Amino acid sequence: MKLEIRRAVADDLPALAVADGRAFGLHYSSTDIDDFRPIFEPNRFLLACEPEDGAIVGVTGSYTFDLTLPGGGVLPTQGVTWVSVATTHRWRGVAAELLSRQHREFAEEGVALSVLTASEGGIYGRFGYGAAGRERSVKIDRRLARFRADAPDPGGVRFATTDEVRAKAPDVHRRWAARTPGAVSRDDRWWDYSLADRADYRDGGSALFHLVHPDGYASYRVHHDDHLCRVVDFFAATDEAHAALWRALLGIDLARFITADACPVDDPLPFLLEDPRQVRTTELKDGLWARLLDVPAVLAARRYPVEIDAVLEVADAFLGLGGRFRLRGGPDGASCEPVASAPDGWLSIGTLASLAFGTHRGHTLARSGMLEAAAPVLRRLDAAFAADQEVRHGTHF
Ligand SMILES: CC(C)(COP(=O)(O)OP(=O)(O)OC[C@H]1O[C@@H](n2cnc3c(N)ncnc32)[C@H](O)[C@@H]1OP(=O)(O)O)[C@@H](O)C(=O)NCCC(=O)NCCS
Repeated sequence: MKLEIRRAVADDLPALAVADGRAFGLHYSSTDIDDFRPIFEPNRFLLACEPEDGAIVGVTGSYTFDLTLPGGGVLPTQGVTWVSVATTHRWRGVAAELLSRQHREFAEEGVALSVLTASEGGIYGRFGYGAAGRERSVKIDRRLARFRADAPDPGGVRFATTDEVRAKAPDVHRRWAARTPGAVSRDDRWWDYSLADRADYRDGGSALFHLVHPDGYASYRVHHDDHLCRVVDFFAATDEAHAALWRALLGIDLARFITADACPVDDPLPFLLEDPRQVRTTELKDGLWARLLDVPAVLAARRYPVEIDAVLEVADAFLGLGGRFRLRGGPDGASCEPVASAPDGWLSIGTLASLAFGTHRGHTLARSGMLEAAAPVLRRLDAAFAADQEVRHGTHF
């Protein structure tokens, strides 16, 4: 029997939470649902339902964010989320149908970019997404981590209450986001949601402690049984705030270990220490995935550290939004438009996402057969697409 595909309404939320919980092995409480309600935008969710009883068997949704591109350009972006299909209805093309409708709607609305974080790395390439970031978890044995004698020690960190953080953190976060590629914005609803700190989500740890600096903010919880301090949020808008906050965190005497789940690969923390190896990587995965829906709009919105003038032939088997585009860009701006002239490079729209965020080098993509270009072109592309900092989205969505 054919499934009905429809847009969600506000009253769908409890049933939607049951469907999502089944897919991800969770039981959401009514408090969870109430917390989530303010950030739930029903018109951004598509549902696949059994026509007989209306049961929800497939879901895809999205949130509206502003996202920072390398060089500081900002684009309104859809963050795709809650993608799931009931195990009873798998492998029948339900997810493909929902994602196809959702992304066609994005394109029709003029959304230039969508992003997501993937439960599995093999799912989203076929939908035109490319791995655009890297997400690293670290563990530090606090007793062995000593700061270099000449490492910065700017001070200025204080403990803060949740209310104080709620007042100060949004400004710090905005300034952090402005300099961080891949950063997604947090509006008031997201701040309330992030700081709710419900007991069910503490995973055996304490309630949150907050540290603030005029240019930074960190939240952590203590897991007494494991002698562990887990950093939950960390945003520094300046390098001074970064050093000051890490000094405070690594000074928490009774915690043997400090862990952080989103420590960028290029985080300067290891080099603040006498022994950089003490910042031990416990997991490294793909993090943010991106899908270009309007190639010229995305490429023209970022800045390029060196001048680039190249024609790229971009293939998009899923939505047919590819083509041949000439990119002309530099530190002060960029333009990109469809052309008929001979291309300098050939790649899929997902590979272009990997290149465009500066995380993955053209040389690496070419060596895996995902990008075709002559060696001098590859060198120019790598110089131009380089980003000052690694991608970090900063908010799990
Ligand atoms: C992943 C999920 C949404 C797929 O739903 P589905 O309706 O079975 O998928 P479809 O039948 O539409 O498959 C579409 C394509 O994706 C492929 N695919 C499906 N699940 C996949 C997986 N886990 N890994 C890799 N490829 C997958 C299918 O083979 C198909 O490929 P094709 O187009 O080359 O034929 C579903 O299995 C699910 O809900 N999983 C648990 C929750 C989850 O991980 N959600 C993703 C959150 S980021």
